[in-house]
Amino acid sequence: MKIGIGNDHVAYALKLEITEYLKELGHDVVDFGHHNQERTDYPIYGEVVANAVVKGEVDCGILICGTGVGISIAANKVNGIRAVVCSEPYSAMLSKQHNNSNILAFGARVVGSELAKMIVDSWLNASYEGDRHGRRVEMIKQIEEKQK
Ligand code: RB5
Repeated sequence: MKIGIGNDHVAYALKLEITEYLKELGHDVVDFGHHNQERTDYPIYGEVVANAVVKGEVDCGILICGTGVGISIAANKVNGIRAVVCSEPYSAMLSKQHNNSNILAFGARVVGSELAKMIVDSWLNASYEGDRHGRRVEMIKQIEEKQK
């Protein structure tokens, strides 16, 4: 899978570890930055990864900031993005199965690297179930349409 990854300064070290892990799993990782620990602004990376996802440049995205909250809020401003912040694997799995999430976010100040890897595994290994959930995801798209 081709995965876009983005982070702010707080999450730089965890981004490197998760990138390495994804590559070990055989994924192709596109790193949209930030590329060091100098202070930066998380909306930049939320937007750039979200755009790559909706344009189909990558199959899905992973975003990391201090909490995962700010960067996911930014990503969710892009039409077609369903970014979720998960601090445990169960929600990550269901966010794919029920909500067809296309970006996973988590916080470098919230989860350790081993838990982050479990969350990533759970999300990547889950599949969207469609069916009754499809109608609800469609309702979310309609909210976007009304904003245009
Ligand atoms: C940066 O200090 C911090 O606000 C950011 O990493 C993130 O937690 C925002 O949601």
